[in-house]
Amino acid sequence: MKRTKVTVIGSINMDLVTDTKRLPNKGETVMGEFFSMIPGGKGANQAVAAARLGADVSLIGRIGEDPFGLSLRKHLEQEGITLCEGEPVHYKSTGVASITLAEGDNRIIVVPGANEEVTAPFVSQFEKIIASSDVVLLQLEIPLKAVECALSLAKKHQVRTILNPAPIRSLPNSLLKDVTYFTPNEHEVGALNIVDKAKLIVTRGEKGVTFFENDTIRSVESYPVEVVDTTGAGDAFNGAFAVALSEGKSLKEACQFSVAVGALAVTKLGAQAGMPTREELSYFLTRRDK
Ligand code: RIB
Repeated sequence: MKRTKVTVIGSINMDLVTDTKRLPNKGETVMGEFFSMIPGGKGANQAVAAARLGADVSLIGRIGEDPFGLSLRKHLEQEGITLCEGEPVHYKSTGVASITLAEGDNRIIVVPGANEEVTAPFVSQFEKIIASSDVVLLQLEIPLKAVECALSLAKKHQVRTILNPAPIRSLPNSLLKDVTYFTPNEHEVGALNIVDKAKLIVTRGEKGVTFFENDTIRSVESYPVEVVDTTGAGDAFNGAFAVALSEGKSLKEACQFSVAVGALAVTKLGAQAGMPTREELSYFLTRRDK
C-alpha cells in the first residue's frame, strides 16, 4: 500500500513521570515508586502513533537547544518522523510535562516553553507541506493563532483536518467552521459548541468512542486490556484516526481501527511506548477474533 501523508502540528515535550501509590495532601511529602523521563507532548505522541502505523509523517513543532530538545530531536528521527522546526529556539527551554501516576490515573502539568514559539508565521513557512498532506492533525498545546493559521491553510488546499481539542479551551466560531473532525474526550465535549454534529467523534476511554452518522449516534466499543498507563491513549486514537482517514477508511472503520490502537497504547508505561506498529495491531486484532 502506498504510504499516505499525515502532517501533525503540535507540541513536543519531555515527560517527567513519577509513579506513586498515593497522592500527597497539601504540604505533605510521600515517597514515590519510580521516576522516568519519557518523550511526550500531544503533537509528538500523535506523530509517533501515525508513523508506527505506516504513514509518512511530518511534525511541525519546536524544541529548545537543551539536553531534552537534543534527545527528543534524535528520538523523532529514529521514529522516521520529519521534524519541521525552522530556526532552533535558543531563548526558551523545551516543553516539559510533569506527570504523576497514581490510583490508576494520571495528572499532568505542562510547561510549554518552546511550544509557545509555534506561532502563525512559523506555521506559514510550511504551507507546502500542509498542502501536500492527506490529513492535517492538530491539538491545543500550541498557540491558538497557529492552530487557526494551519486550519485556514489546510482549507485553502482542500486538505482534511482533525482537531483534538486538548487541553480544552474556548474556541472561536470561525475556527469551529474550518475543522473536518473534532475528537474531544467525554470530559472536553461539553465545553465545545459544535453545531454540525457530523464533525464530532467523542472518545470515552475504556467505553470506546461515539460518532454521528446520518444524525444518529453510533458507538464503537473498546477492547478489554490490562492497563499500565493511560497517558497518551487519546493521542494514540488521534494518530490512528488520521492514518485511517488518509487511507480512505469509512468513519466507522476509522473509529474501529483507532479504538484498537488506543487500547494497545495503554498496555505499556509512557505515552509513546505502547503505540503499536501496523504488525502489532494486526496481531492483536487477529488474536481477538479467534
Ligand atoms: O496526552 C499526553 C501528553 O500530554 C503527555 O505526553 C504530555 O506531554 C502532555 O502533553
